Amino acid sequence: MKVSNKVFVVTGGGAGIGRDLVLTLLSSGASVAAVDINKIALEETLELSGGNQDKLSTHVVDITDRHGVESLPEDVIAYHGAVDAIINNAGIIQPFVKINDLDYEKIKLVMDINFYGTLYMTKTFLPYLLKRPFAHITNVSSMGGFLPVPGQSIYGASKAAVKLFTEGLHSELKDTNVKVTIVFPGGVGTNILENSGVDNLKITDESQNQKYKVLTPREAAEIIINGIEKDKFRVLPGKDSKMMDLFYRFNPKRAANVIANKLNLQ
Ligand SMILES: NC(=O)c1ccc[n+]([C@@H]2O[C@H](COP(=O)([O-])OP(=O)(O)OC[C@H]3O[C@@H](n4cnc5c(N)ncnc54)[C@H](O)[C@@H]3O)[C@@H](O)[C@H]2O)c1
Repeated sequence: MKVSNKVFVVTGGGAGIGRDLVLTLLSSGASVAAVDINKIALEETLELSGGNQDKLSTHVVDITDRHGVESLPEDVIAYHGAVDAIINNAGIIQPFVKINDLDYEKIKLVMDINFYGTLYMTKTFLPYLLKRPFAHITNVSSMGGFLPVPGQSIYGASKAAVKLFTEGLHSELKDTNVKVTIVFPGGVGTNILENSGVDNLKITDESQNQKYKVLTPREAAEIIINGIEKDKFRVLPGKDSKMMDLFYRFNPKRAANVIANKLNLQ
Protein backbone atom coordinates (compact mmCIF):
# COMPACT_ATOMS: atom_id res chain seq x y z
CA MET A 1 0.00 0.00 0.00
CA LYS A 2 1.41 3.37 -0.96
CA VAL A 3 1.80 5.37 2.27
CA SER A 4 1.35 8.86 0.81
CA ASN A 5 -1.98 10.47 1.80
CA LYS A 6 -2.88 7.52 4.08
CA VAL A 7 -3.63 7.68 7.80
CA PHE A 8 -1.43 5.44 9.97
CA VAL A 9 -1.69 4.54 13.65
CA VAL A 10 1.75 3.71 15.09
CA THR A 11 2.14 2.28 18.61
CA GLY A 12 5.32 3.05 20.52
CA GLY A 13 5.58 6.29 18.54
CA GLY A 14 7.37 8.04 21.41
CA ALA A 15 10.78 6.38 20.99
CA GLY A 16 13.10 4.17 18.99
CA ILE A 17 11.84 2.51 15.83
CA GLY A 18 8.28 3.79 16.44
CA ARG A 19 9.37 7.42 16.54
CA ASP A 20 11.29 7.00 13.29
CA LEU A 21 8.31 5.23 11.72
CA VAL A 22 6.19 8.27 12.64
CA LEU A 23 8.69 10.82 11.30
CA THR A 24 9.45 8.87 8.10
CA LEU A 25 5.77 8.31 7.37
CA LEU A 26 5.11 12.03 7.82
CA SER A 27 7.92 12.99 5.47
CA SER A 28 6.57 10.45 2.95
CA GLY A 29 3.22 12.26 2.84
CA ALA A 30 1.22 10.18 5.32
CA SER A 31 -0.73 11.40 8.36
CA VAL A 32 -0.03 9.66 11.65
CA ALA A 33 -1.70 9.00 14.98
CA ALA A 34 1.17 8.20 17.35
CA VAL A 35 0.25 6.10 20.37
CA ASP A 36 2.46 5.65 23.42
CA ILE A 37 2.20 5.12 27.16
CA ASN A 38 4.84 7.86 27.65
CA LYS A 39 3.36 11.36 27.28
CA ILE A 40 6.70 13.20 27.40
CA ALA A 41 8.16 10.95 24.71
CA LEU A 42 5.15 11.64 22.47
CA GLU A 43 5.60 15.38 22.96
CA GLU A 44 9.23 15.03 21.83
CA THR A 45 8.10 13.17 18.71
CA LEU A 46 5.62 15.97 18.00
CA GLU A 47 8.37 18.56 18.37
CA LEU A 48 10.62 16.60 16.01
CA SER A 49 7.89 16.49 13.36
CA GLY A 50 8.61 20.14 12.48
CA GLY A 51 6.52 21.35 9.56
CA ASN A 52 4.35 18.22 9.62
CA GLN A 53 2.88 18.84 13.09
CA ASP A 54 -0.68 19.31 11.83
CA LYS A 55 -0.58 15.84 10.22
CA LEU A 56 0.38 14.22 13.54
CA SER A 57 -1.95 13.48 16.46
CA THR A 58 -0.66 12.01 19.71
CA HIS A 59 -2.56 9.61 21.96
CA VAL A 60 -1.40 8.61 25.43
CA VAL A 61 -2.70 5.05 25.71
CA ASP A 62 -1.39 1.94 27.43
CA ILE A 63 -1.99 -0.78 24.82
CA THR A 64 -2.56 -3.37 27.56
CA ASP A 65 -5.72 -1.43 28.50
CA ARG A 66 -8.30 -2.91 26.11
CA HIS A 67 -10.87 -0.20 26.79
CA GLY A 68 -8.28 2.52 26.21
CA VAL A 69 -7.38 0.90 22.88
CA GLU A 70 -11.06 0.59 21.97
CA SER A 71 -11.51 4.35 22.37
CA LEU A 72 -8.72 5.06 19.86
CA PRO A 73 -10.53 4.73 16.49
CA GLU A 74 -13.04 7.40 17.42
CA ASP A 75 -10.25 9.82 18.46
CA VAL A 76 -8.13 9.04 15.40
CA ILE A 77 -11.05 9.45 12.99
CA ALA A 78 -12.15 12.67 14.72
CA TYR A 79 -8.71 14.15 13.99
CA HIS A 80 -7.76 12.58 10.66
CA GLY A 81 -11.14 11.68 9.12
CA ALA A 82 -10.23 8.00 8.51
CA VAL A 83 -7.76 5.26 9.34
CA ASP A 84 -6.00 3.21 6.64
CA ALA A 85 -3.21 1.38 8.46
CA ILE A 86 -1.87 0.34 11.84
CA ILE A 87 1.70 -0.49 12.83
CA ASN A 88 1.86 -2.47 16.07
CA ASN A 89 5.39 -1.62 17.11
CA ALA A 90 5.28 -0.95 20.90
CA GLY A 91 7.07 -3.64 22.86
CA ILE A 92 9.39 -4.38 25.76
CA ILE A 93 12.06 -6.97 26.49
CA GLN A 94 12.38 -8.96 29.73
CA PRO A 95 15.24 -8.88 32.24
CA PHE A 96 18.07 -11.14 31.03
CA VAL A 97 17.33 -14.05 33.37
CA LYS A 98 16.41 -17.70 32.97
CA ILE A 99 12.75 -18.71 33.11
CA ASN A 100 13.45 -20.33 36.48
CA ASP A 101 14.33 -16.90 37.89
CA LEU A 102 11.66 -14.80 36.15
CA ASP A 103 8.59 -13.91 38.20
CA TYR A 104 5.05 -14.26 36.89
CA GLU A 105 4.40 -10.54 37.16
CA LYS A 106 7.14 -9.77 34.61
CA ILE A 107 6.08 -12.68 32.40
CA LYS A 108 2.51 -11.37 32.33
CA LEU A 109 3.64 -7.81 31.56
CA VAL A 110 5.74 -8.93 28.59
CA MET A 111 2.88 -11.04 27.19
CA ASP A 112 0.34 -8.27 27.88
CA ILE A 113 2.28 -5.59 26.01
CA ASN A 114 3.85 -7.59 23.19
CA PHE A 115 1.05 -10.03 22.41
CA TYR A 116 -2.21 -8.77 23.94
CA GLY A 117 -1.46 -5.14 23.06
CA THR A 118 -0.99 -6.19 19.42
CA LEU A 119 -4.15 -8.31 19.59
CA TYR A 120 -6.31 -5.51 21.08
CA MET A 121 -5.09 -3.02 18.49
CA THR A 122 -5.70 -5.44 15.62
CA LYS A 123 -9.18 -6.53 16.71
CA THR A 124 -10.17 -2.93 17.45
CA PHE A 125 -9.07 -1.47 14.11
CA LEU A 126 -9.79 -4.38 11.75
CA PRO A 127 -13.52 -3.57 11.24
CA TYR A 128 -12.54 -0.01 10.21
CA LEU A 129 -9.73 -1.20 7.93
CA LEU A 130 -12.03 -3.64 6.12
CA LYS A 131 -14.15 -0.68 5.01
CA ARG A 132 -11.25 1.18 3.36
CA PRO A 133 -10.28 0.76 -0.32
CA PHE A 134 -6.69 -0.07 0.66
CA ALA A 135 -5.58 -0.93 4.16
CA HIS A 136 -2.60 -2.41 5.94
CA ILE A 137 -1.66 -4.09 9.23
CA THR A 138 2.02 -4.32 10.21
CA ASN A 139 3.03 -6.21 13.33
CA VAL A 140 6.56 -5.96 14.70
CA SER A 141 7.84 -9.29 15.99
CA SER A 142 11.60 -9.84 16.38
CA MET A 143 14.46 -12.05 15.26
CA GLY A 144 13.91 -13.41 18.79
CA GLY A 145 10.43 -14.49 17.65
CA PHE A 146 11.86 -17.31 15.52
CA LEU A 147 15.26 -17.89 17.18
CA PRO A 148 15.68 -18.81 20.87
CA VAL A 149 17.71 -16.31 22.90
CA PRO A 150 18.54 -17.54 26.42
CA GLY A 151 17.47 -14.98 29.01
CA GLN A 152 14.77 -13.72 26.63
CA SER A 153 12.64 -16.87 26.43
CA ILE A 154 9.39 -15.16 27.43
CA TYR A 155 10.11 -12.19 25.18
CA GLY A 156 10.73 -14.73 22.39
CA ALA A 157 7.48 -16.56 23.20
CA SER A 158 5.54 -13.27 23.07
CA LYS A 159 7.11 -12.41 19.70
CA ALA A 160 6.54 -15.95 18.37
CA ALA A 161 2.88 -15.46 19.31
CA VAL A 162 2.87 -12.19 17.34
CA LYS A 163 4.47 -14.05 14.40
CA LEU A 164 1.87 -16.84 14.17
CA PHE A 165 -1.02 -14.51 14.95
CA THR A 166 0.08 -12.22 12.11
CA GLU A 167 0.77 -15.02 9.65
CA GLY A 168 -2.70 -16.44 10.37
CA LEU A 169 -4.20 -13.00 9.89
CA HIS A 170 -2.38 -12.72 6.56
CA SER A 171 -4.02 -15.94 5.37
CA GLU A 172 -7.46 -14.99 6.71
CA LEU A 173 -7.35 -11.60 4.99
CA LYS A 174 -5.71 -12.66 1.73
CA ASP A 175 -8.81 -12.03 -0.40
CA THR A 176 -9.59 -8.68 1.19
CA ASN A 177 -8.35 -5.09 0.85
CA VAL A 178 -6.32 -5.46 4.08
CA LYS A 179 -2.68 -6.43 3.46
CA VAL A 180 -0.63 -7.82 6.33
CA THR A 181 3.11 -7.59 7.00
CA ILE A 182 5.15 -9.24 9.75
CA VAL A 183 8.49 -7.65 10.71
CA PHE A 184 11.44 -9.46 12.33
CA PRO A 185 14.05 -6.82 13.25
CA GLY A 186 17.55 -7.89 14.20
CA GLY A 187 19.56 -5.59 16.45
CA VAL A 188 18.49 -1.94 16.28
CA GLY A 189 20.24 0.85 18.24
CA THR A 190 17.44 2.07 20.52
CA ASN A 191 17.02 2.53 24.27
CA ILE A 192 14.84 -0.57 24.58
CA LEU A 193 16.88 -1.87 27.54
CA GLU A 194 16.33 1.29 29.61
CA ASN A 195 12.74 1.71 28.40
CA SER A 196 12.01 -1.88 29.45
CA GLY A 197 13.69 -1.36 32.84
CA VAL A 198 16.40 -3.91 32.01
CA ASP A 199 19.96 -3.37 33.21
CA ASN A 200 21.53 -6.79 33.45
CA LEU A 201 22.68 -7.63 29.91
CA LYS A 202 25.98 -9.51 30.09
CA ILE A 203 27.71 -10.56 26.88
CA THR A 204 30.55 -13.06 27.35
CA ASP A 205 32.76 -11.70 24.67
CA GLU A 206 32.65 -7.89 24.65
CA SER A 207 34.59 -7.72 21.38
CA GLN A 208 31.77 -9.67 19.70
CA ASN A 209 29.37 -7.03 20.91
CA GLN A 210 31.49 -4.20 19.53
CA LYS A 211 31.90 -5.87 16.16
CA TYR A 212 28.16 -6.34 15.86
CA LYS A 213 26.87 -3.40 13.88
CA VAL A 214 23.20 -2.75 14.44
CA LEU A 215 20.77 -0.73 12.32
CA THR A 216 19.78 2.77 13.35
CA PRO A 217 16.08 3.20 14.18
CA ARG A 218 15.79 5.37 11.04
CA GLU A 219 17.24 2.61 8.86
CA ALA A 220 14.88 0.06 10.42
CA ALA A 221 11.88 2.38 9.92
CA GLU A 222 12.78 2.93 6.25
CA ILE A 223 13.08 -0.81 5.63
CA ILE A 224 9.70 -1.42 7.30
CA ILE A 225 7.96 1.34 5.31
CA ASN A 226 9.50 0.09 2.08
CA GLY A 227 8.06 -3.36 2.94
CA ILE A 228 4.61 -1.85 3.56
CA GLU A 229 4.73 -0.05 0.21
CA LYS A 230 5.36 -3.43 -1.46
CA ASP A 231 2.77 -5.30 0.67
CA LYS A 232 5.52 -7.71 1.71
CA PHE A 233 4.51 -10.76 3.75
CA ARG A 234 7.76 -10.77 5.76
CA VAL A 235 10.27 -7.97 6.38
CA LEU A 236 13.64 -8.76 7.98
CA PRO A 237 15.45 -5.51 8.90
CA GLY A 238 19.18 -6.16 9.34
CA LYS A 239 21.71 -8.63 7.97
CA ASP A 240 21.66 -10.46 11.32
CA SER A 241 17.95 -11.17 11.03
CA LYS A 242 18.17 -12.26 7.38
CA MET A 243 21.13 -14.51 8.08
CA MET A 244 19.68 -16.13 11.23
CA ASP A 245 16.35 -16.68 9.45
CA LEU A 246 18.10 -18.86 6.87
CA PHE A 247 20.41 -20.51 9.41
CA TYR A 248 17.55 -21.36 11.79
CA ARG A 249 15.48 -22.92 9.02
CA PHE A 250 18.47 -24.90 7.77
CA ASN A 251 19.57 -26.17 11.21
CA PRO A 252 17.48 -24.97 14.21
CA LYS A 253 19.59 -26.70 16.85
CA ARG A 254 22.91 -25.33 15.58
CA ALA A 255 21.47 -21.84 15.21
CA ALA A 256 20.17 -22.00 18.79
CA ASN A 257 23.59 -23.16 20.02
CA VAL A 258 25.43 -20.34 18.27
CA ILE A 259 23.27 -17.79 20.11
CA ALA A 260 23.45 -19.66 23.42
CA ASN A 261 27.26 -19.71 23.23
CA LYS A 262 27.39 -15.95 22.61
CA LEU A 263 25.31 -15.14 25.66
CA ASN A 264 26.77 -16.44 28.87
CA LEU A 265 23.74 -16.09 31.09
CA GLN A 266 24.69 -15.76 34.75
N1 LIG B 1 15.68 -2.54 19.33
C1 LIG B 1 15.87 -3.76 18.88
O1 LIG B 1 17.02 -4.23 18.77
C2 LIG B 1 14.70 -4.62 18.48
C3 LIG B 1 14.97 -5.86 17.87
C4 LIG B 1 13.90 -6.67 17.50
C5 LIG B 1 12.60 -6.26 17.71
N2 LIG B 1 12.36 -5.04 18.29
C6 LIG B 1 10.97 -4.67 18.52
O2 LIG B 1 10.73 -3.41 17.91
C7 LIG B 1 9.73 -2.72 18.64
C8 LIG B 1 10.21 -1.31 18.99
O3 LIG B 1 11.36 -1.46 19.79
P1 LIG B 1 12.34 -0.24 20.11
O4 LIG B 1 13.69 -0.82 20.18
O5 LIG B 1 12.06 0.89 19.23
O6 LIG B 1 11.88 0.07 21.61
P2 LIG B 1 11.86 1.46 22.44
O7 LIG B 1 11.90 1.06 23.87
O8 LIG B 1 12.88 2.39 21.91
O9 LIG B 1 10.42 2.05 22.08
C9 LIG B 1 9.25 1.38 22.47
C10 LIG B 1 8.15 2.38 22.71
O10 LIG B 1 6.97 1.63 23.11
C11 LIG B 1 6.35 2.30 24.18
N3 LIG B 1 5.55 1.39 24.99
C12 LIG B 1 6.01 0.43 25.83
N4 LIG B 1 4.99 -0.15 26.45
C13 LIG B 1 3.86 0.43 26.00
C14 LIG B 1 2.48 0.24 26.30
N5 LIG B 1 2.07 -0.64 27.20
N6 LIG B 1 1.57 1.01 25.66
C15 LIG B 1 1.98 1.95 24.74
N7 LIG B 1 3.28 2.17 24.43
C16 LIG B 1 4.21 1.41 25.06
C17 LIG B 1 7.51 2.89 24.97
O11 LIG B 1 7.07 3.95 25.83
C18 LIG B 1 8.45 3.34 23.88
O12 LIG B 1 8.20 4.68 23.49
C19 LIG B 1 9.43 -3.57 19.87
O13 LIG B 1 8.26 -4.33 19.65
C20 LIG B 1 10.63 -4.47 19.99
O14 LIG B 1 10.35 -5.68 20.62
C21 LIG B 1 13.38 -4.22 18.68
